[in-house]
Amino acid sequence: MKEELEKIKKEAENSLQELKSIDELEKWFKEFLGKKGKLSRILKGMRNIPPDKRPSVGAFANEIKEFLKKEYSLKEKELKKAKIEEELKAKKLDITLPGRPIGPGHLHIVTQTLREIYKVFASMGFQIYEAPDVETEENNFELLNIPAYHPAREMWDTFWINDKVLLRTHTSPGQIRVMREYYPEPIRVILPGKCYRYEDITARSEHQFYQVEGLAVGHNITLTDLKGTMINAAKRLFGEERKVRFRGSYFPFTEPSVEVDMDCILCKGKGCRVCKYTGWLEIAGAGMTHPVVLKNGGYDPDEWTGFAFGMGVERPAMLKYGIEDIRYFYKNDLRFLRQF
Ligand code: DAH
Repeated sequence: MKEELEKIKKEAENSLQELKSIDELEKWFKEFLGKKGKLSRILKGMRNIPPDKRPSVGAFANEIKEFLKKEYSLKEKELKKAKIEEELKAKKLDITLPGRPIGPGHLHIVTQTLREIYKVFASMGFQIYEAPDVETEENNFELLNIPAYHPAREMWDTFWINDKVLLRTHTSPGQIRVMREYYPEPIRVILPGKCYRYEDITARSEHQFYQVEGLAVGHNITLTDLKGTMINAAKRLFGEERKVRFRGSYFPFTEPSVEVDMDCILCKGKGCRVCKYTGWLEIAGAGMTHPVVLKNGGYDPDEWTGFAFGMGVERPAMLKYGIEDIRYFYKNDLRFLRQF
């Protein structure tokens, strides 16, 4: 039996030297040291050995087993190392290759549009005032002359946070904040910001969008000032040749109220799909600040007058750049964003 074990040991040692891969090594392990391997098979023959000889044969067998195991792990290390070296040789890394630079980013199309608007109004003496997106029901509605029972509340579908707090449906509540902060100074501010409406999302309406509100309060402010400001802004933003018209309208916080239109920048007033064949595009709601709103802001309506306006940001950008779907703005698709 000892001879047989000796033979297997030799055989195993010899074939181990020939091995070239981990796969082959695993096969080798199975063949000699596996449960059904050669060594185990011989040890099964122990029964036939006289009992007094068994311990020494057993010890010898174990010695061989341990020896082969050690050889196995040495070989394993060797083969692994060889494999890594081979891989390194195959994949040479050329550290002198120039890298692929990540280009600089740029401002989002909405940010660019907002900044153009800021520039135009800043040149007319308007400061920027930022009011919060989360507003009280009081500022968003009540103090703007839209009481709870008022049917005009239906003009703004609202995301409520609780009974008294909401996501502003327009930038107009900022008017109250500015007046309360600035009194008794005259005011000339724009209030840009995001607005939120509980509406279906379509190609033409998102439930988050920007507005730029404007407010001027002083001692001799008239509708003429509002008209001049709007005409100047439209021409500066959309082209010197723009025509602007004012239509009577209704908003609870202005009296009188108007809607500001300009001739369609695509068809120049002839009529097309974009202007729905009217030749005109609506760019803002506006009007003379309602006496109740002035009073709520702390300004005595017998002494002060004011005008206000509110304009969209995405819609005019869509017209200017021929963007067909408002949803593109906030999809973060670089193929879209890179065009501007
Ligand atoms: N807040 C109005 C809206 O979101 C827009 C608006 C209209 C603002 C007239 C004004 C204004 O300041 O005078 O529909």
